[in-house]
Amino acid sequence: MEERLISSEADQQDLVFETSLRPQTLGQYIGQDKVKANLEVFIKAALMRRETLDHVLLYGPPGLGKTTLAAIIANEMGVDLRTTSGPAIERPGDLAAILTSLEPGDVLFIDEIHRLPRSIEEVLYPAMEDFCLDIVIGKGPEARSVRLDLPPFTLVGATTRAGAISAPLRDRFGVLSRLEYYKEEQLKEIVERTADILSTKISAVAASEIARRSRGTPRIANRLLRRVRDFAQVKGNGEIDLAMADEALGLLQVDKLGLDHIDHKLLTGIIEKFRGGPVGLDTIAASIGEESDTIEDVYEPYLLQIGFLQRTPRGRVVTDLVYRHFQMEVPKK
Ligand SMILES: Nc1ncnc2c1ncn2[C@@H]1O[C@H](COP(=O)(O)OP(=O)(O)OP(=O)(O)O)[C@@H](O)[C@H]1O
Ligand SMILES: [Mg+2]
Repeated sequence: MEERLISSEADQQDLVFETSLRPQTLGQYIGQDKVKANLEVFIKAALMRRETLDHVLLYGPPGLGKTTLAAIIANEMGVDLRTTSGPAIERPGDLAAILTSLEPGDVLFIDEIHRLPRSIEEVLYPAMEDFCLDIVIGKGPEARSVRLDLPPFTLVGATTRAGAISAPLRDRFGVLSRLEYYKEEQLKEIVERTADILSTKISAVAASEIARRSRGTPRIANRLLRRVRDFAQVKGNGEIDLAMADEALGLLQVDKLGLDHIDHKLLTGIIEKFRGGPVGLDTIAASIGEESDTIEDVYEPYLLQIGFLQRTPRGRVVTDLVYRHFQMEVPKK
């Protein structure tokens, strides 16, 4: 699969920058007002009662701030954060080792929790409910189960695919928070905050322009800002105004709505080869030489989100918005 500038998955460079760009407190976390308001109450209540916070499940598309929020929760609770991920825990013993090493009140963050093997989920149930572990010692007829007490802790789980989490696991979370794509106004604030941290001057309209092309995603906003900043440093005096942002993003082939050449290929392909659809996913895939899964998981979600594509029982259809975006004549029905 091609590298895309507007991919919502983190690349190597994002990982280097993201640590320093992450907001540390709920107050610094921009947007997601409903999620924040709820968490604020739950955190305050837990602190007042000197209890641990209920387990929290965060779900939503990549790059919207799940990992960031997990760290903020630990910070606001005044406890340590331990981080692991679903695929990293292979055997029940791995999970037991982590759980028994927690300090009372700690936050355990399990990223990609939908990829936790089922056998390990079962170890997690009593740990989440009663703060204990049932361990089997020995083998065969000699085997016996021992119950081990754990320090109380808060599990924060994150997933991009809420549907892939088993019902029994989901039911054991007290707080379920869905992160939404960000509005342009909030992304603008994020761009300005990041520019400030990077000591880069940016005009308000330039920040809005980057925000508009960031596909509702803070990770993309920060990445586009870094690229535009490079550009401004080499071609200008390092300051980012609207003309500079516009020119840089044009050269980077990110259009006014944050679409790149792959989105264009997909959309114009459906228009030119299939008269705008409906056309089946596999047929589209074959016609532009991509995997169906890649189209469905990576290319399509944002196009569906902005109403450029529709899923129908007979296949994908491009909407009138696409014709207007490409300044093509909208076909008569
Ligand atoms: N609300 C926010 N305010 C400011 N910056 C944010 C916010 N949310 C995310 N960011 C920025 O976006 C970057 C990506 O966020 P984060 O890594 O938390 O996303 P994620 O949801 O965990 O993504 P993934 O699903 O790929 O793990 C962070 O480094 C942070 O700088
Ligand atoms: Mg993450």
